[in-house]
Amino acid sequence: MRKVAMSRSIRIRGPAAIRGALRVPGDKSISHRVAMLASIAAGPTTITGFASSVDCHSTLDCIRKLGITVEETDSTIVIHGNGLFVYRGSDSPVQLDAGNSGSTIRMLSGLLAGQRIASEITGDTSLRRRPMARVINPLRLMGAKIDATGDGFPPLKIQGNKLKAINYSSHVASAQVKTCVLLAGLLAEGQTLFSEPSQSRDHTELMLREFGVLINRSSGQLSVEGLQPLKAVNYDVPGDLSSAAFFIAAANVLPDSVITLTDVSLNPTRTAIIDVMKQLGASIRTENKRERHGEPIGDLIVSSASLRADRPKTTLDGAIIPNIIDEIPVLAVVATQVEGRLEVRDARELRIKESDRIATVARGIRSLGGKIEEFEDGFAIEGPQKLTGGIVETSGDHRIAMAFAVAGLIAQGTTEIIDADCASVSFPRFYESLASVSRGYALNANEQVLIKSEA
Ligand code: S3P
Repeated sequence: MRKVAMSRSIRIRGPAAIRGALRVPGDKSISHRVAMLASIAAGPTTITGFASSVDCHSTLDCIRKLGITVEETDSTIVIHGNGLFVYRGSDSPVQLDAGNSGSTIRMLSGLLAGQRIASEITGDTSLRRRPMARVINPLRLMGAKIDATGDGFPPLKIQGNKLKAINYSSHVASAQVKTCVLLAGLLAEGQTLFSEPSQSRDHTELMLREFGVLINRSSGQLSVEGLQPLKAVNYDVPGDLSSAAFFIAAANVLPDSVITLTDVSLNPTRTAIIDVMKQLGASIRTENKRERHGEPIGDLIVSSASLRADRPKTTLDGAIIPNIIDEIPVLAVVATQVEGRLEVRDARELRIKESDRIATVARGIRSLGGKIEEFEDGFAIEGPQKLTGGIVETSGDHRIAMAFAVAGLIAQGTTEIIDADCASVSFPRFYESLASVSRGYALNANEQVLIKSEA
């Protein structure tokens, strides 16, 4: 497995402006899915733009361990699927390591449950603290044999079994749960039905159609007939909007900034961050709108703006939360620069992400001299605030590291991000990309400090 390099801490001396153009790494959600679907398709699937993220390489490593041939070059990945029930094991369970990746363990469990092999899937300390009951429960209803640790934590011991279709209403709007059930449904006899309390990202539905699977949506309910063969495809993955969000945030709040982000996924179940930023007054223009594999894509041109919340406050809650869930840490950093009050509620899910993101965001803001009110299900921030710099503990959480690198560019003073390399979980070379567009900045010789040049 590609490991996160032994972690540097990064020091950033703000304030800065950013200018230039970037193509962020391939979309993480789409990359996991294309790898999993390709592994059960009939024939070789060729993928370009696959995410460089450590998380997506955890998925590739698992698939390889399951006997699937994966050829990887710098620009292309070819996955040799050979039908629905192709995973191979031996007498003892196949040992799988999902690393830090909730998507890998939760979505792949759906496929493992219906294969004819035994497997055991686990992950790093952060992943072993994340709840799996949300996928174990529906899978057991389908006839899966799964044992977990304690109340449903990894490692998961899965004895592959014949699955039956179910009609499942999830109590959480989670695309990982939805994908797990739909993938298990493909291996089950009969029609699997799935509904969720509000719409989560729909990459799985769109991609299943690309692979030739008939899947229907009616009044919010999805239905898929099991045992449909998947045809192999050529798939070109777009850039990840959740990674672009750090640059969208930075360009908006740093004066004198303008950045072009090319070939970014603009799937409507992911673009709520753009809507929220625009509601606050952000300057974000979309160009070259197009569609690839049923996924909307475009280029974004983002420039400095003065941001303002509604009076008496802007509240983000309810159905929008699952659609901005990964961008909330950087939105909190943005909120420190917005005039007025921004409140995030109904976001309890943040507490069980790669870290407790309500707690890590609150700690990070405070360590840079900012103020934040913490709730059980969210937080409130009144801006604009002066950030002074300070030391940020990431708790090994990639999105916390990157959000606070943006905060470091805003702050007057030096910000040190501890364990900064966890950013590779979704964005290897994030700091290099940041330095390349931060005016007057470069990584120093040891690649440890984003330094401001004298020029
Ligand atoms: C993801 C779904 C979201 C998101 C995660 C990726 C996916 O998680 O936070 O980063 O690719 O399906 P949930 O399904 O738990 O909401």
